[in-house]
Amino acid sequence: MHTDQASSYQAASYQAPGGLLQGRIILVTGAGDGIGKAAALGFARLGATLILLGKTVEKLEQVYDQIEQEGCPQPAIIPLNLETATVADYQKIASTLEQEFGRLDGLLLNAAILGDMRPLEFFPMDTFEKVMKVNVNAQFLLVRTLMPLLRLSEQGSIIFTTSSVGRQGRANWGAYAISKFAVEGMMQTLADETRNTSQLKVNCINPGATRTRMRANAYPGEDPATLCPPEAILNLYFYLMGSDSAGVTGQSLDAQPK
Ligand SMILES: NC(=O)c1ccc[n+]([C@@H]2O[C@H](COP(=O)([O-])OP(=O)(O)OC[C@H]3O[C@@H](n4cnc5c(N)ncnc54)[C@H](OP(=O)(O)O)[C@@H]3O)[C@@H](O)[C@H]2O)c1
Repeated sequence: MHTDQASSYQAASYQAPGGLLQGRIILVTGAGDGIGKAAALGFARLGATLILLGKTVEKLEQVYDQIEQEGCPQPAIIPLNLETATVADYQKIASTLEQEFGRLDGLLLNAAILGDMRPLEFFPMDTFEKVMKVNVNAQFLLVRTLMPLLRLSEQGSIIFTTSSVGRQGRANWGAYAISKFAVEGMMQTLADETRNTSQLKVNCINPGATRTRMRANAYPGEDPATLCPPEAILNLYFYLMGSDSAGVTGQSLDAQPK
């Protein structure tokens, strides 16, 4: 199923009740900055235990400290460069999580890179490969290695992160746009594979224009003050992570429906 705007409107205005994610164990990729950081803090404030995965350790430590200072459940940090990580690295993460937590209730696949913005005819191969590694291969490997832990959850939720250029191609968005089409395809494939056999929900969120470093890189001339900050787009993330979205799977929803 593709974008369901009616559901996007409803879900994007969801008001999460306090304690919605109490007792849940949620892994967020790219948890040190931008939307991933805001989502991790938001999930923690709703009671979840966060596993903060990302590239820059200092940024993850900052989020860790903030979660602790606010008295939320103690998080964990997994430093990982998704561009260079090996299959063995992912397997190690899965066995550590199994030992420490025994299961996984939520997986927000948020980390991504933009790469170059130029026509495909002139797109450098090394950048193309780098974008595919971070935005596609890493998502696949995380899903593949973490599925056994997610299946142990009573109501697991996987959220992929898409973009409007992953639904309708756009000139100069190059590898990034192609990678987001792949993400939509991965979500649909996994949702179809799990629909009748588990409680697992598998969906995509398109955050829409959001005030982050990636957005500033894509639109250097834009005034960031005109954009929603990451903290203001989280209702849909809470909805899909929590139990009120039971049975919602295979959807690609907009955090800021127009
Ligand atoms: N912002 C928007 O307007 C917008 C619109 C549509 C879709 N999105 C999507 O929303 C998601 C979040 O984007 P954002 O705007 O929050 O971007 P951002 O501010 O650039 O944050 C990206 C995050 O991904 C992490 N990351 C990048 N490369 C990594 C690697 N090799 N290994 C591990 N982590 C890595 C970054 O960690 P470091 O900081 O340590 O590098 C950072 O935490 C992305 O999937 C993006 O495509 C954003």
